[in-house]
Amino acid sequence: MTIAAHIDGGLAVHPLAVRFGARIEGVDLSALDDDTLAAVEAALVQYKVLFFAGQRWTAAQQVAFARRLGDLHRHPVFDRHRDADELVVFAYDETRRGANDTWHSDVSFVAEPVKYSILHAEEIPPLGGDTLWLDAEAAYDGLSAFLKDFLGNLTSEHFFFKNPTPDALARLLAEGDADARTAAFGPVVHPLVRTHPVNGRRSLYVSRAFTTRIPELTPIESDHVLRLLFEHLDKPEFHLRWQWQADTVAIWDNRSTQHLAVSDYFPARRRVRRAAVLGERPR
Ligand code: OGA
Ligand code: MN
Repeated sequence: MTIAAHIDGGLAVHPLAVRFGARIEGVDLSALDDDTLAAVEAALVQYKVLFFAGQRWTAAQQVAFARRLGDLHRHPVFDRHRDADELVVFAYDETRRGANDTWHSDVSFVAEPVKYSILHAEEIPPLGGDTLWLDAEAAYDGLSAFLKDFLGNLTSEHFFFKNPTPDALARLLAEGDADARTAAFGPVVHPLVRTHPVNGRRSLYVSRAFTTRIPELTPIESDHVLRLLFEHLDKPEFHLRWQWQADTVAIWDNRSTQHLAVSDYFPARRRVRRAAVLGERPR
């Protein structure tokens, strides 16, 4: 059985799963009028991750589209695209095994994290290299009322170097002044349960990749509560898995989701590029 496409604000939206995710058909992202862009953004908040096939974007077109949604984040350490400083490139092959394979919300380690990520698939391996998303609002909804009450009063600390390679950490900690380093990499404290600024829905804002601790708790309490939440977020009912084709663009809302890249394709090549639109301070 297939779910019939339905039209939201003039868009052909094909939901991909019960709770979140949708494929949008018949849209050329490089030539969107303002009304259609507004419909795409509304669909993005509602469906949390959207996929658009057949987008033959140059790097410059990707940047121009992303800028229509807000100011762009410049990543302090990831590889940048040679034609566009605002794009991060994730390129893996027989010399470098895939990364990004731990659940995260992009750039949660700064005071005003990224709201939207816009990823263009340049080259995809013949098999493997899927991406998974999780619905952090559904995950929050799936907790008991008692745990929701408890978590609602807590914060979570996020840090880029939660799992540093010792060399990278040593090099970066020796560079620049301490305030600039903290602004770029954290640690920063956010609400552990955040409220979406557009629809008011609550979601869990802790990730295996970047959340280091819950400052209000003792270290043992913090470790165990985080482990409980990470295990909860692992439940497949909150997840969506996407199999890529080259020239597909995904746009996701980092305020209500997390994602990871499945690194199963070594030594094949996989190359994607990402723009990241800055958002507001989580509340
Ligand atoms: C990202 C990311 C996942 C992937 O672009 O932020 O985590 O599948 N990418 O490449
Ligand atoms: Mn990411």
